[in-house]
Amino acid sequence: MKLDRRAFLRTLGYGAAASRLLSYPAWSLSTSAKLEDQVSAVTHDPLRPEFHLLPPHNWMNDPNGPIWWKGQYHLFYQLNPHAAVWGDMHWGHAISPDMVHWHHEPIALAPTPGGPDSEGCFSGSAVVFDGKPTIIYTGVRNAPPAETTLHDGNDKLRETQMLATAEDDELLHWKKLETPVITTPPPGMYVTGFRDPCPWLEGDEWYLGIGSGERGIGGCVLLYRSHDLRHWEYLHKLAQGKPNGRVSVNPCDSGEMWECPDFFDVNGHHCLLYSSEDKVFWTTGEYDTHQHRYIPMRTGVLDHGAYYAPKSFLAPDDRRILWGWIRETRLEAESAAAGWSGAMALPRALTVNRDGELEINPAIEVEKLRGTEEVSTLQAGTSTNRTLTTLRRELRIALGASKPKVAVRLLTSGKSVWELVVDVPASLVRCGDITFALPPQLKPDDALRIFIDGSVIESFIAGREALTSRVYSMRPGESELEIALLKGESVALKQWPLEAISTDRLTT
Ligand code: FRU
Repeated sequence: MKLDRRAFLRTLGYGAAASRLLSYPAWSLSTSAKLEDQVSAVTHDPLRPEFHLLPPHNWMNDPNGPIWWKGQYHLFYQLNPHAAVWGDMHWGHAISPDMVHWHHEPIALAPTPGGPDSEGCFSGSAVVFDGKPTIIYTGVRNAPPAETTLHDGNDKLRETQMLATAEDDELLHWKKLETPVITTPPPGMYVTGFRDPCPWLEGDEWYLGIGSGERGIGGCVLLYRSHDLRHWEYLHKLAQGKPNGRVSVNPCDSGEMWECPDFFDVNGHHCLLYSSEDKVFWTTGEYDTHQHRYIPMRTGVLDHGAYYAPKSFLAPDDRRILWGWIRETRLEAESAAAGWSGAMALPRALTVNRDGELEINPAIEVEKLRGTEEVSTLQAGTSTNRTLTTLRRELRIALGASKPKVAVRLLTSGKSVWELVVDVPASLVRCGDITFALPPQLKPDDALRIFIDGSVIESFIAGREALTSRVYSMRPGESELEIALLKGESVALKQWPLEAISTDRLTT
């Protein structure tokens, strides 16, 4: 007897989940032999986030081409539709009315056999040109040694910059130009990599930064100019880093390659983000719009944890919103067995303060997920403890008013599995072996905000520092949340249970 996929799933008792999974794009389920495992793995996995965006299953990494178009937020992302490990990069696509609730769409970009992106559609950006959403991304293909540009020890791939235009207002169909719009790195440069284009408009000219670097010299952003996004002239380096002294075949580890540059202005300051050394760096500085030279003046780490390759866009109300990839920190085999890997961080609103420091706060839309608010005050030397019946929670601990030292702890079966200590008097934050300084002058309403979602914890400290953690030993009903006031008279505490964005962990 031949069963169709829906009937097959029904026989397995996955009625509702089955019909939801089956409403997904065809790529979401591969072979019917594995259907039972796949559905069960994703819908019953307590570690899988419930209010962060992630594909129905398999691997995701960088956010790509976020854009607001015709009343919807569109977010694309690096997707391997065939496995929960990196490889065979496509652009997944999801849409949202509010940056919180999502609908999965079919794959937007797939490698073209025999084309310049035959081995993968790497990261890139979306802009509107001539009234049409247009994607600029990096295509990779296999190439003989003399033509490769990606030098990370494998040295097989050639990266070129490709262009695709939207064929409909739902951004479902994209038409690629057959030949790359930038075919080769600047003459005379032996690059460590050449990818992740980020375009912006100045007057009627387009500018484009490309992530790159050179051995012994450091990571950099290459700057190009065009009138039509199709013909580009190389100008010079927009920014240049230094090697960190480490010796590594992967130039990202040694600071000799910068990935995913993002360049924009916010509150009259220019800001360049780039990813390298497993971290995201921010810089703010001055950009001379005549010479097209950028002078970074301040720098910092955008997130101290498992957060990488972010990409920003301008929301319709002019907020600069940042999306970022939350990496896994467990073994690849464990993610592969779970059937999913990676999640999109919550949308973060970026601003730059008067001192030129980047400020990072969860976008206000995230508050839509809140259930009933619980308000309490913690007294000196006391702690509060609760069992987490669901792993979806937001905390807000006031820091600015009483300048406390607080510890937030997660325990499973009585054992501590995660701890964040914010010590305002000592100006120090510690989470496991990660430590960093607290912003020097706290404002009265500055707070520690924490979002717990399955194995993901996003912490925002005084709107200035962020830390994304992964914890794989969380269990609903067995895990507890403990908040302790270690120093200070008292501290105000707010908590909210947060809603899941879907009924079955499929985030749509
Ligand atoms: C960053 C990155 C990008 C590249 C993409 C490939 O995570 O390595 O530089 O375009 O991922 O998936």
